[in-house]
Amino acid sequence: MSPTPTTPAVRVENLTKVFKGQLGRKAFVAVKDLSFTVNAGEVYGLIGPNGSGKSTTMKVVLGLLRPDMGHTHIFGCDSSEVASRQEVGFLPENPYFYKHLTGLETLLFYGRLCGMSGKELRERAHDLLLLTGLENAADRRVGGYSKGMLQRIGLAQALIHEPRLLVLDEPTAGVDPAGSRKIRDLILEFKQRGITVLVTSHLLEQLQEVCDRIGIMAHGKMVREGRLDELIAVENQTEILLENASPELLEKIRGLVATEASSTRLLEMGHPRTTLERLFLKATEDSSDVS
Ligand SMILES: Nc1ncnc2c1ncn2[C@@H]1O[C@H](COP(=O)(O)OP(=O)(O)O)[C@@H](O)[C@H]1O
Ligand SMILES: [Mg+2]
Repeated sequence: MSPTPTTPAVRVENLTKVFKGQLGRKAFVAVKDLSFTVNAGEVYGLIGPNGSGKSTTMKVVLGLLRPDMGHTHIFGCDSSEVASRQEVGFLPENPYFYKHLTGLETLLFYGRLCGMSGKELRERAHDLLLLTGLENAADRRVGGYSKGMLQRIGLAQALIHEPRLLVLDEPTAGVDPAGSRKIRDLILEFKQRGITVLVTSHLLEQLQEVCDRIGIMAHGKMVREGRLDELIAVENQTEILLENASPELLEKIRGLVATEASSTRLLEMGHPRTTLERLFLKATEDSSDVS
């Protein structure tokens, strides 16, 4: 099937992945009948507690693990086909880099693995070092990089062959707040450049700012999915945004706001939002008795 502008970047259909038990251990179902779609151009966040099946799902999408049931596609191409990998850059959960190589050498190394060479590769590597803010560390060995810098060289590595899709597994885990901020800014920058991003995290607040849509996984299943702004809207509550309200008035308003005449203005009425964290805890808690 040839991709059209509406071909999803990632399609996961009824995916089940079972890890066979070894040495008398029981088989373990890591992903159960999971389905979701990542549209081209969006940032999609897969969130869930440790062990909920996020990395397993990504590995199947990338063709690193075979599904037991169901299918996964990248831009319309089944993950089992080598061609599906051409358009994808991947930052694994714990990326490994050759410590003795410098940042620049690392990018040149991965570029050559992708069949790039010469001036084109050197220019691309320099552009990516600039984009990821590592231009001053380009000639330092990655063995001396901080965790945040390692994740950024990992992002640059994933982008070396100009993929249309980036798959990032816990890109901000173990990174300090400033480093994590830079990574989130980069994700938004990638989106600006038209790159689709599928990102996992167990750190919820962090994804809240960058994702267009999210899926919440628990025990290998999707327990909530949708647009972030819709998911965190609370339908049975009303938010009133007041200007110049005194504490006394606030006290009265607790009883009845509509009849109050004062300098108070009603600026906005709508559905208040819960935090992604509360939604996540509720959703994963609800699912624990069905696993
Ligand atoms: N190769 C494997 N063999 C057996 N069990 C595995 C393997 N990989 C992952 N698992 C199990 O599958 C479950 C989901 O793991 P994973 O996909 O890594 O979760 P997450 O990325 O959400 O933390 C975990 O319970 C994990 O122990
Ligand atoms: Mg994981």
